[in-house]
Amino acid sequence: MNSSNESRLSLDRRGRMAVLTLHHPPVNAIDAALRTALHLELREAMRDGTVDAIILAGAGKHFSAGADIREFAKPPIEGVPNLVELIELIENASKPVIAAIHGTATGGALELALGCAYRLASPEAELGLPEVTLGFVPGAGGTQRLPRLVGVEKALDLILSGRRIGGDEAGRCGLVDEVVPAADLLLRAMAFAEGAKGRPVRRTRDFPVPEASPEVFERAEAEIAKTARGRVAPAAALACVRRATELSFAEGLRLEREAFLGLVRGPESMALRHVFFAEREAQKISGLEEGAVLPAIRRVGVVGFGTMGSGIAIAFASAGLPVVVVDETPEAVDRGLAKVRATYEEARSKGRITEADCAERIGRVCADTDYEALKTADLVIEAAFEDIDVKHAVFAKLDRVCSGSAILATNTSSLDVNVIAAATKNPARVLGLHFFSPANIMKLVEVVRPTSVSPGVLAACLDVVKRIGKIGVVVGVCEGFVGNRMLFAYRRQADFLLEEGALPPQVDRALRDFGMAMGPFQTGDLAGLDISWRIRKRLAAARPKELRYSAIADRLCEMGRLGQKTGAGWYRYEKGSRTPTPDPEVDALVLSVSAELGFTRREISDGEIVERCFGALINEGALILEEGLAARPGDIDVIWIHGYGFPRHRGGPMHWAEVSGLPKILEAVERMHANQGVLVQPSALLRQLVGDARGFSEPGTSRPTGDRS
Ligand code: 3HC
Repeated sequence: MNSSNESRLSLDRRGRMAVLTLHHPPVNAIDAALRTALHLELREAMRDGTVDAIILAGAGKHFSAGADIREFAKPPIEGVPNLVELIELIENASKPVIAAIHGTATGGALELALGCAYRLASPEAELGLPEVTLGFVPGAGGTQRLPRLVGVEKALDLILSGRRIGGDEAGRCGLVDEVVPAADLLLRAMAFAEGAKGRPVRRTRDFPVPEASPEVFERAEAEIAKTARGRVAPAAALACVRRATELSFAEGLRLEREAFLGLVRGPESMALRHVFFAEREAQKISGLEEGAVLPAIRRVGVVGFGTMGSGIAIAFASAGLPVVVVDETPEAVDRGLAKVRATYEEARSKGRITEADCAERIGRVCADTDYEALKTADLVIEAAFEDIDVKHAVFAKLDRVCSGSAILATNTSSLDVNVIAAATKNPARVLGLHFFSPANIMKLVEVVRPTSVSPGVLAACLDVVKRIGKIGVVVGVCEGFVGNRMLFAYRRQADFLLEEGALPPQVDRALRDFGMAMGPFQTGDLAGLDISWRIRKRLAAARPKELRYSAIADRLCEMGRLGQKTGAGWYRYEKGSRTPTPDPEVDALVLSVSAELGFTRREISDGEIVERCFGALINEGALILEEGLAARPGDIDVIWIHGYGFPRHRGGPMHWAEVSGLPKILEAVERMHANQGVLVQPSALLRQLVGDARGFSEPGTSRPTGDRS
């Protein structure tokens, strides 16, 4: 027999077993239709006297990614069972239900499996409860059943981190009963059902919660205090797990559901769900034909073996792609290779990778002084000196040696990619891949779209960026692209605030308290102040002299204070230390610049720091949208979360602006405009949205990147 219910679920009979397979591509998200279908078919199978056991499986690549996250924004549908009820049905059944897990089983899907009598998983399966990363707690018994299976400490580890574990680890900790190859899952599940015959059905809720010492909770609390940075979901999840150790299962389950429902509608969850979808939306590009075959990227070349080049090489090698790096001199090649080796050796010595992994990754990177070595690369990334003539020379050589199908990318952070592309033989294969330093660690890559590049080349690059575990966002060509252009606007206000009365530690603290990973001055010291100094010098001639300009950063650089690398920048650093110490010399410089400019210094509130820095930042983001340089507001959010340390739980600057109220943001922008003129030019889009009482997230604020019409 083979039937289907709303095509979300298929039922197969194997002798006296009923196999229910979730069928909701691409990830079998459990939505209302799937819950309804499951409820119906489960009840049917439970009533059917010819069925001894039920096996739950997933079609396609995954068991299931859990509850359909899109449904959380909608009101519940009357008459449709929720996951708790569905799991209750499974756990109360008089015949065993067995979960056969391959691919991902996360959130509600794992909770479904936890309610089953037995769980089998393939070694490649990935299991986890990622709910806290979406701003809520597991809502269908995860915090109550997991500790009963794996103990409190392991349950806390999984629930608070949201991390996924592989099948083998799940087997070792007791989360699954057996680990079997994916191809054998069904057969083994049937054998399991056979073996369970005649025995009472095993119910996870009846397992006692293993004892946990108070220190286990204290350690988890300390970790939350250190890392939550204003998020509320982790503490709520901890409280749920604690209740599992103190209350009856039913009471624990009731309180977990209460916490889940409260949090899922809250601002943290709204923001984190927005980011979840924005990250995926960012992968979609305009102009790509359906079913287009993308250029394959199997071998990567890098030009320049400095800090950026070696970071990029490591990023690809770590993901399994062979890399060849070219630099001008044997010394530069040796230095680069030594840097790659040292990075991997350090990772090995810290236990992050195995000895074998370390050797394999080092072996994937080779280097040469001859461009001919790049002949077989499918993608070459130029990471040479930031000078347009140098770039032209590199691309001319690449044009000569690379295969006609190779993609050529520049890692420039500030030069015009349209100009670089136009000087090559085939501009359709040239684009920017703007990695952030350190390139082997930072997740963001701005995929810079010159007007001439083909959509297939863009899509292939987005794909390879995803393969190396990073997040690519397509941006148009302009000074600073999206991220740095917004950073300039944000930083400018921070500098002006210094002239008016603040000092670097206050500005940094106010923005850290808001949730930024670091303040702008600390970040500058880390990145090195000379990079932006060089850009300012390049742009100096074009800067209208009547416009306000803060020279404090230039003066610091002239004093040789280039940041952490020189032991001094906006702060002082003890030898070998990265801890910033406020420096009276910097205070004196700030005060003297204030006096030179004729400012009467005043008390600056933290509120004003946040309002001005973010007001200018969001206004610049709105201008960028207006100019078609970012395709969607969510793309900007993703850029600022992954490249600039904007707090993820606030959803990115554009989401945060909308939640805080665009009229308030516009008021701040208009005030800055009144004082600073064109330096803060209010965005027409922002004015229009406020006038129409609309938000960035509403239709009409997105357009294809690069479309400046
Ligand atoms: N709900 C709705 N849509 C989902 C989804 C979910 N749980 N998980 C993934 N999707 C969508 C994505 O938005 C994307 O849609 P798109 O094609 O329209 O952009 C599509 O499925 C494919 O997703 P990915 O691009 O992420 O595919 P990958 O193959 O790279 O990754 C995955 C697959 C590992 C399953 C990843 O999608 C994932 O981690 N999903 C989220 C898992 C999760 O957080 N589950 C918890 C849900 S909350 C819950 O269950 C509450 C419960 O406690 C009551």
